[in-house]
Amino acid sequence: MIDTPVWVQVVYLVAAVCFILALKGLSSPKHARAGNLLGAVGAVMACVVVFFYAELDHLVPILVAIAVGTVVGVVGAQRVQMTQMPQLVALFNGVGGGAAALVALLELADMVEGDHGEFALAATAFTIVVGSVSFAGSMVTFAKLQELMTSRPVLFPGLPVLFGGGLLVAVALSVMTVTSTAVWIGIVLALVGLLLGVLLVLPVGGADVPIVISLLNAFTGLTVAAGGYVLGNTVLLVAGTLVGASGTFLTKLMAAAMGRSVGNILFGALKGGSTLGAGEASDRPVRSGGPEDVAILLGYAHKVIIVPGYGLAVAQAQHTLRELVDVLGERGIAVDYAIHPVAGRMPGHMNVLLAEAQVPYDQLKEMDDINGDFRQTDVVLVVGANDVVNPAAKTSPGAPIYGMPILNADEAQQIVFMKRSMRPGFAGIENELLFDPKTTLLFGDAKDSLGKLLSAVKAL
Ligand code: TAP
Repeated sequence: MIDTPVWVQVVYLVAAVCFILALKGLSSPKHARAGNLLGAVGAVMACVVVFFYAELDHLVPILVAIAVGTVVGVVGAQRVQMTQMPQLVALFNGVGGGAAALVALLELADMVEGDHGEFALAATAFTIVVGSVSFAGSMVTFAKLQELMTSRPVLFPGLPVLFGGGLLVAVALSVMTVTSTAVWIGIVLALVGLLLGVLLVLPVGGADVPIVISLLNAFTGLTVAAGGYVLGNTVLLVAGTLVGASGTFLTKLMAAAMGRSVGNILFGALKGGSTLGAGEASDRPVRSGGPEDVAILLGYAHKVIIVPGYGLAVAQAQHTLRELVDVLGERGIAVDYAIHPVAGRMPGHMNVLLAEAQVPYDQLKEMDDINGDFRQTDVVLVVGANDVVNPAAKTSPGAPIYGMPILNADEAQQIVFMKRSMRPGFAGIENELLFDPKTTLLFGDAKDSLGKLLSAVKAL
């Protein structure tokens, strides 16, 4: 542990304030960019200051590691598609947890000599095991979302017993770390943590994986906070606590937005309960239309609500959609966007996507604020969304999304779905609304269809 001079403590305090203000900024689309930048400034300050006061033994490998990490991070973040963002977050989060576990192992090696107090040793054991869980779990979530493995829940006989046994062994090894302070115990503890991380995420179905990423993110935060305590580093302690707390809130909010408990998301498949995953395309007859038909519906409406979803992000059709809404606005039609909290694949996905296309914030309406308006709406245009308007969430107790609050698109006079096929959404279940007599399907890639629809509305 290094003695930290007062001026460094002051820098750490400023960095911690940056992190808190960053979180505040990230809570609204207006200030999110500034918040993100402020957080990055705080992180750079916290990292750079070490080089000015600590006597670092391995300067060259440290600088090389920073250079490699920076290049990989910048190139990765620039290349990643918006729809692959959850995978990127999983990767970044996983390496954070893994790094914290490795640092704790090295600290444990230093603690073998001398008396370091039981609390510091307990925090070290905690960092090793939870950091390893977070690393391994995040790698499995990455593999699931990147489709390197099946996104369906993976179950095998004895999994619950193995998981429960692993937990007991981890507790026993943590106690041994405190009483015996041996490095080999720490290494075995890390291996058990890795196994627990894999077993924790294997039974989770694809659609629930973003929530598990957020949970593992909270784990990494707690790990980093405990690591900060072990190292006597205030900024790690503060940053870790903030990540742990915000990750926990986000997990709870996302679970609530899906009408599920965190326990059901993690262990539902083990109990044979709701498991989400890919489903079959329906061959039941539906009413489909061309862009001209939909243009007439939209062009002569008084009130239109747009429901954006994951498909809009896949098609990168946000700019064309905004153009269409602008043209409808010029015709005197009132248009709003209805934003479901879990539309897309990550929190705030639709807000970020539409902000990118310069859609004014006041046109984006949260689910609770707009749900009463559907009844007075002439046309709902569902662009690449499915589960977030699926009435099965209200009417089918056996459905995996049962209990999830949905947008009341079914209450509008006319409903238009833009999608490519009759394949179901992320939850893998059929959407009765597609077969409703009020519904018209405009098949095709959303960007392509919106382009044609835009021309057709302009030609009215
Ligand atoms: P989904 O239910 O996944 O529906 C997306 C729809 O987009 C599909 O019907 C798909 O149909 C269509 N699509 C895909 N690519 C398209 C393209 N290029 N052009 C046009 N359409 C396209 O999406 P949603 O309604 O946004 O719901 C989100 C789901 O993710 C929910 O199940 C939610 O619980 C889950 N989830 C979200 C989060 C967060 S935080 N957002 C977290 C956990 C889980 P085709 O294949 O026929 O085109």
